[in-house]
Amino acid sequence: MAFGETKIRNYEERRDRAQVEDLERRCEVGPAERVFLFTDTMGDAICRIRNSPMYKMLVAEVDNQLVGVIRGSIKVVTVRKPPKDLAKVGYVLGLRVLSLYRRRGIGLKLVRRLEEWFVDNQVDYAYMATEKDNEASVKLFVDKLGYVKFRTPAILVNPVRRRVHLSSNIEIAKLKVEEAELLYRKFMASTEFFSQDIDRILRNKLSLGTWVAYPRGERWGEVGADGRVENSNWAMLSVWNSGELFKLRLGKAPLSCLVYAKGSRVVDRLLPCIKVPTIPDFFNPFGFYFMYGVHREGPLSGKMVRTLCNYVHNMARKTKDCKVIVTEVGGCDTLRLHIPHWKLLSCPEDLWCIKALKNEERNGLHELTITPPSRALFVDPREV
Ligand SMILES: CC(C)(COP(=O)(O)OP(=O)(O)OC[C@H]1O[C@@H](n2cnc3c(N)ncnc32)[C@H](O)[C@@H]1OP(=O)(O)O)[C@@H](O)C(=O)NCCC(=O)NCCS
Repeated sequence: MAFGETKIRNYEERRDRAQVEDLERRCEVGPAERVFLFTDTMGDAICRIRNSPMYKMLVAEVDNQLVGVIRGSIKVVTVRKPPKDLAKVGYVLGLRVLSLYRRRGIGLKLVRRLEEWFVDNQVDYAYMATEKDNEASVKLFVDKLGYVKFRTPAILVNPVRRRVHLSSNIEIAKLKVEEAELLYRKFMASTEFFSQDIDRILRNKLSLGTWVAYPRGERWGEVGADGRVENSNWAMLSVWNSGELFKLRLGKAPLSCLVYAKGSRVVDRLLPCIKVPTIPDFFNPFGFYFMYGVHREGPLSGKMVRTLCNYVHNMARKTKDCKVIVTEVGGCDTLRLHIPHWKLLSCPEDLWCIKALKNEERNGLHELTITPPSRALFVDPREV
């Protein structure tokens, strides 16, 4: 079948909204062989970039029909490449091409056009995240566009179910935004991909707050102006209400999983004492919380991370349609051992790829990618 020329242009909300919504519905992403949660923007095409300091969305048009989309955002983060440890990075996300139009170079054109926008804005590195077994995406970015495989963080997903008991030996306190910012700048400023505009993230209305956990009986003193904390064992995390922006929905779940999900709910209702792990109703779009900035100090702090996660779980139970809690941690980070999650819904290796866009960065990219992944990685809630 012969197609007209591909035109790449900026997304225009009034003109394109309906067509983009239709395209995204028809363009499911994710492996067929396992449970997969995919995003439903509920018709708001720029919801996943709108909170970033700078963003852009492009569409690909063939014969006046929208056949592809891509989004991008720009910000400044920490990178571990001495002597420079800050870089302007451009994040590529939400790339989709309609099946009928694939393998015609449209995905490639969309990414290249977005990279031009990055270059015009003095971006040092472009990066993207994908499922490591998404062959089309990995081949496009790595083989065709010269991205390099960089990090493999784990996405941990925990369903919201019955109220969880909180440890009686641990105290939890909510921090003021100013205190939270001091802690972030003191303890996470050197964390890979830490966003320099953390104050904007913390002050966003989607950020529900930052909590700390510490041993009961101790006092959580005021955070010093330099971010100093007197306690020796403590943990912190912040919560972002992603469900206000977009929803999740179960992708192509294998039949056995669907049967289990429905069956477990019936058993749970009839025989609650049997404690069958119930999978909530994931078949309709639902909201979720994203926990970011999970950090711990001291040898006894693992239990505090768990208690904080349980606290957030109980909080989520009170939020309408919030059915899962999601977090993303560095691949080598032992934090994951303390964060409750279901393997069935989680992704142990999300693949991040990176590409240097400036000459001097290009020479140093090798150095950056061979640096062993630092224990911690900051995952920006605005880019989930
Ligand atoms: C990934 C996707 C956007 C690619 O779009 P596309 O327009 O088909 O890509 P292009 O035609 O520009 O392909 C460029 C190159 O990418 C690679 N590629 C693309 N699709 C591929 C596939 N299915 N298998 C293997 N390689 C593939 C090839 O190297 C290809 O070059 P070639 O055709 O000369 O061999 C498209 O498959 C898609 O929408 N997938 C579902 C959504 C998704 O997974 N998005 C990526 C999330 S980050």
